[in-house]
Amino acid sequence: MPLALGKDVLDKARREGYAVPSFNTNNLEITQAILETAEALRAPVFIQVSDGARKYAGLENLSNLVRDMASRVSVPVVLHLDHGADYKMVLQALRAGFTSVMIDASHHPFEENVHETQRCVEAAHAVGVSVEAELGRLQGIEDNIVVDAKDAFLTDPDEAERFVEATGIDYLAIAIGTSHGAYKGKGRPYIDHARLEQIATRVSIPLVLHGSSGVPQWLKDKMSATGADLGDPTGIHDEDVRKAIPNGIAKINIDTDLRLAFSAGIREVVVGNPKEFDPRKLLGKGREYLKQVIKEKFELMGTVGRA
Ligand code: G3H
Ligand code: 13P
Ligand code: ZN
Repeated sequence: MPLALGKDVLDKARREGYAVPSFNTNNLEITQAILETAEALRAPVFIQVSDGARKYAGLENLSNLVRDMASRVSVPVVLHLDHGADYKMVLQALRAGFTSVMIDASHHPFEENVHETQRCVEAAHAVGVSVEAELGRLQGIEDNIVVDAKDAFLTDPDEAERFVEATGIDYLAIAIGTSHGAYKGKGRPYIDHARLEQIATRVSIPLVLHGSSGVPQWLKDKMSATGADLGDPTGIHDEDVRKAIPNGIAKINIDTDLRLAFSAGIREVVVGNPKEFDPRKLLGKGREYLKQVIKEKFELMGTVGRA
């Protein structure tokens, strides 16, 4: 079917108390793994395109790929711009047929973030596209950072309420202790659930959690078994993801776990079969592990059967 609108998918999720994963794509195999798993599990899904993906594969290429493949799938699929840097980037995504865009002006002071977001909302809503914006900043939060300094990066509940009212966005990305990438701190990353509860009482639109990869043990094991040297990566615990969903988190961004799964499959074939040189065998194994980790995410977030 045609792409779904981000707001429709997420309003339903927040209302009914589950979350929808937003997976980053960069190519055919990742897109296939996402769509085939979503279809098999009857799960709505977001597919998002980052700045890095745009540079690697091209915005138009990825948009055409996702829209064409989604047209042959019977579950809601939203094509989303991940971390849109500015107004110009948002306009490019609107022209390319995205049904959801993120403007990330979170590194600017509050008023500037409001202003930049307002412009994007005006443009996107004029063509019926939903908008995500971010307040607060994701960081690698370490145990030894003093509370005041740590809080400086996290979303302030009162500001969140003012931000949503002033901008008219459809969903809000917040910072409560998660961070991007495979190294989210030492041991179990600290997630500020009390802050999330305060935000959820003041903000009724769906909330978005970035940096939500769990870095599962089975993927770390597969990487190590093929000689990868990743040090000691740490992700978000499943329990923290489960706990956040009843407090309004309706969209959960996952990229790192897909990178690990895809790489683990490729490495396994390369290391275990020195004579193999058919790229389809390498990428095919990567796709198989992608499907496995994607299935785990749908199950974790309660998305199965919601389409
Ligand atoms: O938000 C960060 C994502 O993991 C995308 O990263 O721009 O390197 O593709 P990327
Ligand atoms: P991870 O790096 O934890 O997968 O987060 C991805 C993300 O937030 C993309 O916007
Ligand atoms: Zn992000």
